[in-house]
Amino acid sequence: MDKIIVLDFGSQYSHLICRRIRSFSAYAELASYNITISKLKKLKPKGIILSGSPFSIYNKNHPMPKNNIFNMKVPILGICYGHQLIVDNFGGTVKNANKEYGSSILSIKNDSKLFSGVRNNTKAWMSHGDEAIDIPHGFKVIASTNRSHAAAIENKKEFIYGIQFHPEVIHTENGIQILKNFVLRICRSKQEWNMENFVTKTIKKISTINENVICGVSGGIDSTVTALLIHKSIGDRLKCIFVNNGLLRFEEEKIVREIFSKIGIKIIVIDAKKRFLTRLKNIYEPEKKRKIIGEEFIKIFSEYSKNNNKIKWLAQGTLYPDKIESGMSKGPSSIIKTHHNVGGIPNWMKLKILEPICDLYKDDVRKIAKILNVPDNIINRHPFPGPGLAVRIIGEVNPKKLKTVRIASKIVEEELKKSQMYNKVWQAYAAMGDDHATGITGDKRKVGNIVMIRIVNSIDAMTADWSRISYAVLENMSNRITNEIDEVVWVSYVISSKPPATIEPQ
Ligand code: XMP
Repeated sequence: MDKIIVLDFGSQYSHLICRRIRSFSAYAELASYNITISKLKKLKPKGIILSGSPFSIYNKNHPMPKNNIFNMKVPILGICYGHQLIVDNFGGTVKNANKEYGSSILSIKNDSKLFSGVRNNTKAWMSHGDEAIDIPHGFKVIASTNRSHAAAIENKKEFIYGIQFHPEVIHTENGIQILKNFVLRICRSKQEWNMENFVTKTIKKISTINENVICGVSGGIDSTVTALLIHKSIGDRLKCIFVNNGLLRFEEEKIVREIFSKIGIKIIVIDAKKRFLTRLKNIYEPEKKRKIIGEEFIKIFSEYSKNNNKIKWLAQGTLYPDKIESGMSKGPSSIIKTHHNVGGIPNWMKLKILEPICDLYKDDVRKIAKILNVPDNIINRHPFPGPGLAVRIIGEVNPKKLKTVRIASKIVEEELKKSQMYNKVWQAYAAMGDDHATGITGDKRKVGNIVMIRIVNSIDAMTADWSRISYAVLENMSNRITNEIDEVVWVSYVISSKPPATIEPQ
């Protein structure tokens, strides 16, 4: 299959470039910014994109591609930092000059293939402090903005392009068209990528594994799809384990048993409530909680695999955003949260890791689930984090807080379903910390807990906005929570978007 390689210089949005390219059925994948030329040649790219970066090319030790990258005789597009790398490499000048953040108007100067079908004076999203001042010999300016003369440059002969703005961000009005022009017209890449092909290829690839595989399943869509793909490849050599860690949603174990009996895969249920809760006693720091939970999962999987010496692989439903937030993407980006299934894996683990969907986003996984005939009620279940309610409880995790959060979340979900809103939002739950507030019941003062309701809309969990739920629905949730959970006197609604907040409180 034709492919475009995106070299990741650490921008939080590098993978979005791949995602946008895949949205028009061409195939793109990320590679590390310093991949060797011989490895890159083996990938046979039809074109190369140099991503943005949190670094400036003037930072000491700024990320650099291998020298010969510009001699590969394939089209190259540099975006933001990538654009400045091109200017610098070919002898132009980049300076810390006109800062430009947010929307700018792009004035197209020249007839370039890159802007075919793109309206003049279109909006382009900028985020840069450095600017290309002198463009190198052999290049010409093909678009400018008020603050950036060389907002887009081209070396037509060498098929090298640089753009200062971000076409992968939705705020760039014709961003997809510009990426299409580069990928389809300039690189001449074929549109061969779709989820059906992904499923067929993945099953074929996994079928080459001769050993047994264990897969930790949670009843969530990611691990369910992972298990199904592997089951289709190696049948009963896959052992699915469901760990009840005591941090789960209301009646989760029962629901998971039903899901797997419906899709016809046997699961082994391990009751580990006590060991998780014991280890979480007196732990307040969020990253520590995540590490402990990740480690405990791995201990359980390793113990199980010791008794079955044919097991050599641990499969996980890791998604791409999990890797980005854990700082495990292919570029030099920073850690936001250690997802238990990524950065939380201790280095003593002997099992090899199998992550068939680790380059996909949630909506891709939902498409695969449809192809694999997963029932709709499973596909539409809200995402639930691997560390479970532990990341929705601020401060120490204990049975009392777990019970409160579990019942409050159940009420939130029930009220959303009643008002036909459950499938319209990304995620909805209740969280709590150690704060107390004063209430009054039956003429008596009562000091109790505060519960927070969090309901968000999102497309891929990389960004999110709080849901504008009707007051009537919120009122029902609040009334039920304070009436049905004795310990709670106050209910608040979280109205922070991501960024600056994240979806889960910890
Ligand atoms: P945040 O809180 O980072 O969450 O905005 C983004 C999405 O990821 C889910 N999430 C996790 N999923 N392991 C998971 O499998 C984790 O450690 C984890 N932490 C957050 C979260 O529920 C949201 O959908």
